[in-house]
Amino acid sequence: MGRVIAITGKGGTGKTAITAMFLRSLLKRDDKCIILAIDADPDANLADTLGDKVEITVGDIRENLQESMASLPPDYDKKQYFAAKVFEVLLEKDGYDMLVMGRSEGSGCYCYLNSLLKGIMYETMDDYDLTIVDTPAGLEHLSRKTITGLESLIVVSDESRRGLKTAETIRQLADELDLEYENLYVIVNKVHEQSRDQVLNTADGLDLKVIGMVPYDENIARLDLVGDPLIGLPDDSPAVVEVENIIKEIGLGG
Ligand SMILES: Nc1ncnc2c1ncn2[C@@H]1O[C@H](COP(=O)(O)OP(=O)(O)O)[C@@H](O)[C@H]1O
Ligand SMILES: [Mg+2]
Repeated sequence: MGRVIAITGKGGTGKTAITAMFLRSLLKRDDKCIILAIDADPDANLADTLGDKVEITVGDIRENLQESMASLPPDYDKKQYFAAKVFEVLLEKDGYDMLVMGRSEGSGCYCYLNSLLKGIMYETMDDYDLTIVDTPAGLEHLSRKTITGLESLIVVSDESRRGLKTAETIRQLADELDLEYENLYVIVNKVHEQSRDQVLNTADGLDLKVIGMVPYDENIARLDLVGDPLIGLPDDSPAVVEVENIIKEIGLGG
């Protein structure tokens, strides 16, 4: 099984931007690993951030299968069908593949399909050296265990005390959900130079392990303003430089 890291945090903290920068840096390395990027945030936009177009999501496939289930013969191999469909929507890009999980389930009971999906995801992720999952603060996909084998859970926070308190709440949630992971790190994002000491102080008080402080970066704001992919950030952009440090710190990508 390859390594799996999930990036989580409250909406707007910069999960998607950080995920995109992780990919950007890992793709530039000589010792490239085979990467799967999973957009597990129902407000899917990782694909956008990377300049990719995604029309059908894993959630859509599950929904269609749920609706057609009653009319399928009982001996029909639903897992194989589901897996084939997931493979169809896997986006193959230069250096990485991407899966968009899409909307959360409707009102029906999805236990059966989710258990199939768990197996399918596990087998899919097994083909990659590294899987990076962009996931919302509610940890839906992780709690349903459609995504398993988590090595690191990375919580992105803004620099405010309230933001860091939310990071602490997410850690509690992860524990309440009995998520299995080896490390939990906090990345504080959009940090202003003058806030750094205070941020570390607050994090210390909450017993949060800050693995990096990504500065507020005009280049991100500028690209996002017009919707250009963050892959296009320059190498010396302050946020990119810090993300490189974090990658080293975590020991990703060799
Ligand atoms: N380091 C940064 N510097 C400046 N702006 C940032 C930074 N990180 C994220 N942003 C901006 O913050 C907003 C939310 O980022 P996004 O990655 O979409 O958050 P999330 O995925 O957590 O909802 C976007 O407008 C993005 O441009
Ligand atoms: Mg996002």
